[in-house]
Amino acid sequence: MSKRILITGGAGFIGSALVDRLQATGHTVFVLDDLSFGRRELAQVPDERFYEVDIRDRKAVAQVMEAVRPQWVLHLAAIHFIPYCNAHPVEAADINITGTIHVLDACAALGGVEQVFVASTAAVYPVMDGPISEATPPAPVDIYGITKLATEKLAAEFHYRTRIPVVIGRFFNAFGPNETNPHLMPEIQRQVLSGARTLQLGNLDPRRDFIHTHDMSRAMQLLLEKGIAGCEVFNIGRGIEYSVREIVEAFARQLGEPLTIEVDPARVRKVERMHLLADVTKLKRATGWEPEWDIDRGVATLLKEEVRM
Ligand SMILES: NC(=O)c1ccc[n+]([C@@H]2O[C@H](COP(=O)([O-])OP(=O)(O)OC[C@H]3O[C@@H](n4cnc5c(N)ncnc54)[C@H](O)[C@@H]3O)[C@@H](O)[C@H]2O)c1
Repeated sequence: MSKRILITGGAGFIGSALVDRLQATGHTVFVLDDLSFGRRELAQVPDERFYEVDIRDRKAVAQVMEAVRPQWVLHLAAIHFIPYCNAHPVEAADINITGTIHVLDACAALGGVEQVFVASTAAVYPVMDGPISEATPPAPVDIYGITKLATEKLAAEFHYRTRIPVVIGRFFNAFGPNETNPHLMPEIQRQVLSGARTLQLGNLDPRRDFIHTHDMSRAMQLLLEKGIAGCEVFNIGRGIEYSVREIVEAFARQLGEPLTIEVDPARVRKVERMHLLADVTKLKRATGWEPEWDIDRGVATLLKEEVRM
């Protein structure tokens, strides 16, 4: 069941793990990425299957689609670092909304696309405690979440217009090798690897559902190989919440040395959700997926990685 697959954002953090996964399972993968955040070497495809294109360029996106003629399209290209999106709302809307329209319209015009996967986020959910299921009505609280909710609505409209099956994956907090944005995990990793044993961090109490990119890409692969009918939303998280302190403890365990934390006021975000936890019952029921990478296993590999950010 080998497919021709186009991944937008395939040179990024999650996209590159997905490229590896889908190639390892026998598919032929093509990547479209403007390399604004991603890096060419992360997308392990030959040059003839790599297109350096900005999804804001409608004509170029259509040309790539024509050249590749993919059966599956996985749309991950976006900007998503929340403070950056809040500071650059027009750019965030242009890439995450207008760019998505271009990708979906090119899929619709092509004919032959069998499935579309669209990357969304837990940031579409309201601020709440406890596990969040897909049935929770979205209520994003930042520009990023608003643009991604628009991405979801556009994907649903695309499905009603074309009848092409669509999977919307609401990603929780990814961790793993090759992080491209200055999130918590690579920041701790960077400080520890540069020799610090007292870490300078921001808010310590928020809890997040960290899922390894290996488990994320396997979840996406299973959903697509199963073939979902209609337009369906799935949470892609691990189902366990960790505080910043607990993440630092995992680093200390893997390092075999104690780590202490100093709160750096410059890093404290004024507005911060305290909880973000996925209910992944729907994903597990649909695919039989179970996570394979826990925090300690993931952190152990991060300690062996060279940080590039
Ligand atoms: N990392 C997370 O924890 C997380 C959580 C929720 C959702 N997501 C979503 O997952 C997807 C992948 O995120 P990631 O963490 O791998 O981030 P990333 O920044 O590493 O990946 C995004 C990729 O898109 C590319 N890109 C950005 N703007 C583009 C444009 N205009 N045209 C073409 N390519 C462009 C970047 O170069 C990059 O390679 C995004 O849609 C993001 O919103 C990520």
